[in-house]
Amino acid sequence: MNILLLGSGGREHALAWKIAQSPKVDKLYIAPGNAGTTGCGENVAIGVNEFDKLKDFAVANAVDMVVVGPEDPLVKGIYDDFKADPRTAAIPVIGPSKAGAVLEGSKDFAKAFMQRHNIPTARYRTFDGTSLDEGLAFLESLKAPYVLKADGLCAGKGVLILPTLEEAKRELREMLGGMFGVASARVVIEEFLSGIECSVFVLTDGRHYKILPEAKDYKRIGEHDTGLNTGGMGSVSPVPFATKEWMQKVEDRIIRPTVDGLAAEGIDYKGFIFFGLINVDGDPMVIEYNCRMGDPETETVMLRLKSDIVDLFEGVAAGDLDKRGIEFDGRSAVCMMMVSGGYPQEYKKGYPITGIDQVEGSIVFHAGTAIKDGSVVTAGGRVIAVSSYGADKGEALRKSFTEAEKIHFTDKYFRRDIGQDL
Ligand code: AMP
Ligand code: GLY
Repeated sequence: MNILLLGSGGREHALAWKIAQSPKVDKLYIAPGNAGTTGCGENVAIGVNEFDKLKDFAVANAVDMVVVGPEDPLVKGIYDDFKADPRTAAIPVIGPSKAGAVLEGSKDFAKAFMQRHNIPTARYRTFDGTSLDEGLAFLESLKAPYVLKADGLCAGKGVLILPTLEEAKRELREMLGGMFGVASARVVIEEFLSGIECSVFVLTDGRHYKILPEAKDYKRIGEHDTGLNTGGMGSVSPVPFATKEWMQKVEDRIIRPTVDGLAAEGIDYKGFIFFGLINVDGDPMVIEYNCRMGDPETETVMLRLKSDIVDLFEGVAAGDLDKRGIEFDGRSAVCMMMVSGGYPQEYKKGYPITGIDQVEGSIVFHAGTAIKDGSVVTAGGRVIAVSSYGADKGEALRKSFTEAEKIHFTDKYFRRDIGQDL
């Protein structure tokens, strides 16, 4: 079959790497892809939100399946758009409908959904411009620190955690006043939860689901979780505290009620669900849902998925995911993200990247890279993910550190403490 994968980050390179290993695949196209995905298939110069061009391409190139990497086209309704067009209606899109992507697209919807289905999450209330005074009063009823979340998509910047009531009140006013545009026209205020986070992923056909290997990501720019939030500086899988017993609680209290809840509400959902969880005294609670895989979690999860991912995708499309097998690789996997100096604030692009061809013990996934005059250059904040297998986490980390030292670009930076808190 011919597959069209959408996206251009490290997540998509890792998905492309895994899809390309499937004996079921004739041709893999990546739109728009990056300098690394050219090693797995053919890049196509179409943006992820250019639905008409993507449909034309799919028809002209006999695409049999579309796999969506990032949330943006899902929240904008790419699934429904392909379905509504008679030319592409029969091409399965792996990713939820617009109604399903709202789990990520609206924090207020996600919280209300969890409440309707008794899924454990922090206590919350939602406010808008007409209820500012009630919001300020609600803040007074909570204890520090205060968690404020813009309702809509903000490219990972919409969550503020404020240490004092005064700051929380000021930020609530600013958010409702348009700090993140329409995305913060509504703000969720919730209780602060304390614990270690873990990302759990499932693939669902809307009725059945398969749980993928879990992972932990490292969001802060600085070592020992200091400094600004980033898209993610590294990931580790498996996660030691995600024991069999803990994962059973996740499945019983969170995964099954979510999949059943979507079905009960008539929401068409055939794709990945990303559960951002926090372990509160041994009990998993949901911090957030995403309607896609995580980045950089995918750069370790794909290493640990032994089964043919295209077979699983076919199960999603056919609605018989329960009949497909899923096997994990027992080894550990880690990913270390090499970023541009200055990221997540201002940084320069276009620096040549050398040494990738010297890497032997790790798998290099490109994130923000491009080809300029025939050479690979930096083209984003997160540049290269160095992923490794190991008999244990320590061995995998040693490999990633050793191999990352071989890759050079001006002002490169990476965290050396990934996985050390576990
Ligand atoms: P989100 O975009 O919802 O994942 O939030 C971003 C980050 O903020 C999360 O990964 C957590 O580290 C943190 N966070 C969000 N909600 C809470 C909460 N209720 N309690 C503690 N930390 C939170
Ligand atoms: N690694 C977190 C995310 O992809 O949202």
